Amino acid sequence: MRQLIAGNWKMNGVGASLAEIEAVAGWVVSAAPPIDVLICPPATLIARAVAAARGRIAIGGQDCHPEPAGAFTGDISTEMLKDAGASAVIVGHSERRQYHGETDALVVAKALAAWRAGITAVICVGETAAERQAGQTQDVIAGQLTGSVPEGATGSTTAIAYEPVWAIGTGLTPSQAQIAEIHAFIRDRLGVGGEQIRILYGGSVKPENARQILALPDVGGALVGGASLKAKDFQTIVSAASARH
Ligand code: PGA
Repeated sequence: MRQLIAGNWKMNGVGASLAEIEAVAGWVVSAAPPIDVLICPPATLIARAVAAARGRIAIGGQDCHPEPAGAFTGDISTEMLKDAGASAVIVGHSERRQYHGETDALVVAKALAAWRAGITAVICVGETAAERQAGQTQDVIAGQLTGSVPEGATGSTTAIAYEPVWAIGTGLTPSQAQIAEIHAFIRDRLGVGGEQIRILYGGSVKPENARQILALPDVGGALVGGASLKAKDFQTIVSAASARH
């Protein structure tokens, strides 16, 4: 299975940041890494990012509305993302669950909307520090998978991102054994039909730790926040994935 390295720019980036995408796209042309690369900039930059990527890397959204169109001020549908040239969308990121009160029911509707538009849903799950300390990690992940991943998910329609909330933007990461344990657990829960679904790890992935994390079994790539904002760091992480192939 080809690994997928996805960059999540969050609410960062103005026009000049597209130089980062151009740099990564140019590098992808020459290095031809045997993996898939996706960058999810803010929605305002998607169309220009698609142009800057010149088909060398995929561009995605960071969120979407479940409905295809209508009176939903401020929202963006998956059809609109696709129209702008996006081929994927992140749904259920913990920042959306936390700051926008997104429930599993909403996340599953968004994932289905991605499928409807023919773009890949990158569905995020992950426990908080308190849940991990209380020994509830597997229960929380199992609940989120049941609630947020639609029936019939396959490797071509869906990726899962395991992102422990306490590891996002903190510089902290679970141990390699803990990452391997949760990825094996998710793989098992995805069951028959889900064998080709890539399970990304996310949360403080950096050039320094990428190689070790990406070498773990059942790690199908990474969802990278902060380190995706610098082309050089992002390239180092893409190279680390390539080294596994
Ligand atoms: P981080 O963010 O790499 O900055 O920890 C990851 C994410 O939230 O997707």
